[in-house]
Amino acid sequence: MIRTLVLYESRYGSTREAARIISLILGPSSCIPVSQFTEKHRDYDFIIMGAPIYMGKLHSKLQDFIDREKEWLSGKNTVLFCTCLDGSEGLQVLREVESDLGGQVMELGVLGGRLEMDRLTEEDFKILKKYLSQVGLPPQGMDLFSPDEVVDLALRFLDIRDTLLERLPVEKLKEEVENFLKEHNTCTLATSSPGRVRATPLEYHYCQGHLYILSEGGVKFANLLSSSRVSVTVYDEYKDMESLKGMQISGQALVIEDVAEYQQVVESMGLEMESIRSLPVDLQLIWVDMEKVEFLNSQFEKDGYSIRQVLNF
Ligand SMILES: Cc1cc2nc3c(=O)[nH]c(=O)nc-3n(C[C@H](O)[C@H](O)[C@H](O)COP(=O)(O)O)c2cc1C
Repeated sequence: MIRTLVLYESRYGSTREAARIISLILGPSSCIPVSQFTEKHRDYDFIIMGAPIYMGKLHSKLQDFIDREKEWLSGKNTVLFCTCLDGSEGLQVLREVESDLGGQVMELGVLGGRLEMDRLTEEDFKILKKYLSQVGLPPQGMDLFSPDEVVDLALRFLDIRDTLLERLPVEKLKEEVENFLKEHNTCTLATSSPGRVRATPLEYHYCQGHLYILSEGGVKFANLLSSSRVSVTVYDEYKDMESLKGMQISGQALVIEDVAEYQQVVESMGLEMESIRSLPVDLQLIWVDMEKVEFLNSQFEKDGYSIRQVLNF
C-alpha cells in the first residue's frame, strides 16, 4: 500500500482546507502541518507539500522545512502545491523550489487562494495593501479558492501516485481481472445524472473487455439517458485485511438497440432468444465498455506487487 504524507503550512486556513481535501482523496494518507513532522513520518512513500505564497515567497515554515530536509526529500517521490492570488507568480515560486530540490519533484500545482481582509493581522494588512497596490489590485478581500480546482489537482496527484505502484505484468493483470470477473456474476452498477445517483445490484456476463447486463428497466435508465459514464464494482465479501479482493471499473454504458447484436450477445450468454421473446415484458441489454479497472487484491501483495493494480483497456 502506498502511503501518502500531506505536509502543509497555512496562516488563514485556505491551504489547510486544500491539504485536507487532497489527503481525503489520496488516502491512505496523513495530513499534518509541517510543525508536527516527526521521525515516524519519514517512511511515507509519497510526499505532498503545500503552502501559501506570501510576498512572492513560499510560506517560510515550509521553505525552512524543505531547506532542512533536502537530503531526506531527495530520496522521496514528492509533489508541491501552493495557494496564491497571482497564479503565474505562484508557479514561478514552485519552479524555484523544484529546481532547488534537484528535479525530484514529480508535479507542481497552483491553486487560487483566499483573502479575508477583516481576518488579517494588522501587520499582514499593511504588507498586503502594499503588495496589492504593487500588482495593481484593489485593497479588498478576494476568494479565488475553488474546491473543484483542488479536487482536480488531487486527482492529478492520484494518477502520479499510481505510477509508483509495483506493477504486475500487463498480460498477467489482464488474466487476473478476467478470471475474477468470470468467477463472479453479480455487480453494483452506479449511474448518475444531475441531481440523481443510483447504485443497482445486477447480474452480469463478462466477455472480452465488456460487461453485458439484462434488465427489465428502472431508474438506472433515467441516468443512462443523461450520461453514459458508469462505475461498476465487483467484490468478495470482507473477511479480513489479508484477503481483500474487489474491483472498481470505470467505463461507458450503452443500451443495445440493434436486434442482431442483441441476439448475438444473448446467445453468448447461453440464453435462448425464443424464451426472451416469450416474456410478457421487454428485456433491455446494457453493454458496458470497460475503460479502467482498479483491482485491490491481497494476493498481489503476497506475490511482491502492490495490492492495488490499475488496468487501462
Ligand atoms: C500579507 C500577505 C501577503 C501575500 N502575498 C502574496 C503574494 O506575494 N502573491 C500571491 O499570489 N498571493 C499573496 N497573498 C495571498 C495568499 O497567498 C492567499 O491569501 C493564500 O490563500 C493564503 O493562504 P492561507 O489561508 O493558507 O494562509 C498574500 C496574502 C497576505 C495576507
